[in-house]
Amino acid sequence: MVKLGVNIDHVATLRQARRAAEPDPVWAAVESQLGGADLITVHLREDRRHIQDRDVFLLAKTVQVPLNLEMAAVADIVNIAVQLQPAMVTLVPERRVEVTTEGGLDVARQARQLAGVVRRLRRCGIRTSAFIDAQPKQIAAAAKAGFEICELHTGPYATACGTPREAAELELLRIGGEAVLNFGMQFNAGHGLNLPNVGAVAGLPHLSELHIGHSIVSRAVFTGMAAAVREMKQAIAAASA
Ligand code: PXP
Repeated sequence: MVKLGVNIDHVATLRQARRAAEPDPVWAAVESQLGGADLITVHLREDRRHIQDRDVFLLAKTVQVPLNLEMAAVADIVNIAVQLQPAMVTLVPERRVEVTTEGGLDVARQARQLAGVVRRLRRCGIRTSAFIDAQPKQIAAAAKAGFEICELHTGPYATACGTPREAAELELLRIGGEAVLNFGMQFNAGHGLNLPNVGAVAGLPHLSELHIGHSIVSRAVFTGMAAAVREMKQAIAAASA
């Protein structure tokens, strides 16, 4: 079955709105695991707008499933990852002005620099994932840079849902997933997924993991985190069994 990585950044967004102690993302990670999360994901942004250093170090000590650290390939954060030793790192592009990760990483344009970061992380036993658009050029560049995993950006599909582009965007993900597999990498996907649109993506062949945050945390405001994760797991199971 397709695994679910739960991104708990927005629990920290709520906490940082008051610079207070609650709600605690460490607690959210526990609740997520009780709901069946297969991985816990946090994005340690350079501007520390949500997740803080304290969070990642506590999560690394307490999370019982693999911890996936999302991050930009910049020296300060790479040094933290090396110290933290999460099970997995997902490299993402990061712009301070963006509301969320907007596009995939341009691996083709920064191939040499990214290959160096990937080598350093892999030497520490950390699995490396590239968050990229479902484009043949980016998938080939990710393989060449040494990534073991590609997370294909499902944002364009999510935005196209209910429009004439929906089927075409899903097809790009299907073809991209094939290409990721043909290069010997693991096929993951994520961004912008929610209960209504997750099924079509979860049903794609060769998919290993989905990474979902905003819709689960939004739902958790009303149902609690464990129930929101359980609900998403059920939707994925129904489509990918
Ligand atoms: N995957 C990556 C690489 C991301 O940057 C994000 C957003 O932090 C997600 C998945 C989850 O996206 P969403 O919050 O829209 O579910």
